[in-house]
Amino acid sequence: MRALETAREDALVHDPWAAALAGHELVASFADQPSETRERAASYTIVRTLAFDDWLRTVQHRPQMVLLGAGFDTRAFRFDWPATSLWELDQPEVLERKAAILREAKASARCARIPVAADLASNEWPRSLDATGFRRGVPTVWLAEGLFPYLEPDVVDRLLHNISTLSAPGSQLAADLVSAQMMAARNAYAATLAQRNGASGNATFRFGADDPVEIFALHGWRVTGIKHPGDADCGYGRWLGPAPASAGFSFVFAERSI
Ligand SMILES: C[S@@+](CC[C@H](N)C(=O)[O-])C[C@H]1O[C@@H](n2cnc3c(N)ncnc32)[C@H](O)[C@@H]1O
Repeated sequence: MRALETAREDALVHDPWAAALAGHELVASFADQPSETRERAASYTIVRTLAFDDWLRTVQHRPQMVLLGAGFDTRAFRFDWPATSLWELDQPEVLERKAAILREAKASARCARIPVAADLASNEWPRSLDATGFRRGVPTVWLAEGLFPYLEPDVVDRLLHNISTLSAPGSQLAADLVSAQMMAARNAYAATLAQRNGASGNATFRFGADDPVEIFALHGWRVTGIKHPGDADCGYGRWLGPAPASAGFSFVFAERSI
């Protein structure tokens, strides 16, 4: 739905590649949903994008950035980070499709962009980072956007462990999480949609977390901030979800503390 945001006169994100990357299939899958649901889902996505964009602007040093489950993220093209090496980790087929679309659109990254095919559920991907110039002694900025809720709990635990082994002190990490209650409610809704339409278009949530501070602390990360969509500083005039802010979704910001 970033395509819609970028097409607005008052767009808060300018992403010339959004429409091509989104493609007809995604737009069609949204069209299957009731419009209120569609608009709410779109509002969540844009608020999340803006919250992480804002956070990335506050990060002082970013010689190394890693987008975990990068998908069709276009920050390497939207931001001007000439001194940054930016790894995009995702499944090979996702990266191949993205590369083809961006090639066709003649998009050029404004950083040193390094796409790396990886299975983030495995213990192999850190070696792929090492092999492509990643330096473990350098503080790194990690972003896991739209990732943890879709992974099994043991995979999230392994992933956090691997991120931690790669993170020099001073590294920063941001991720969005859903609460256990939100996970159950959303999966029940998706199941109802699937029954009605034959296909939901929504992936199942698998990881719900009620205490992000504890989860991050277990892996040596100190949480420096948590925002919820619809918070006074996290609505951007776009949030259409429940007010006051929904605590069911959180954007968590952390720093490597050991
Ligand atoms: C919901 S998308 C989010 C994409 C992007 N970060 C964003 O916010 O637009 C989740 C991404 O994680 C990737 N992903 C999920 N499980 C993965 C795994 N085990 N290894 C690598 N990538 C994975 C998917 O391929 C997908 O691109």
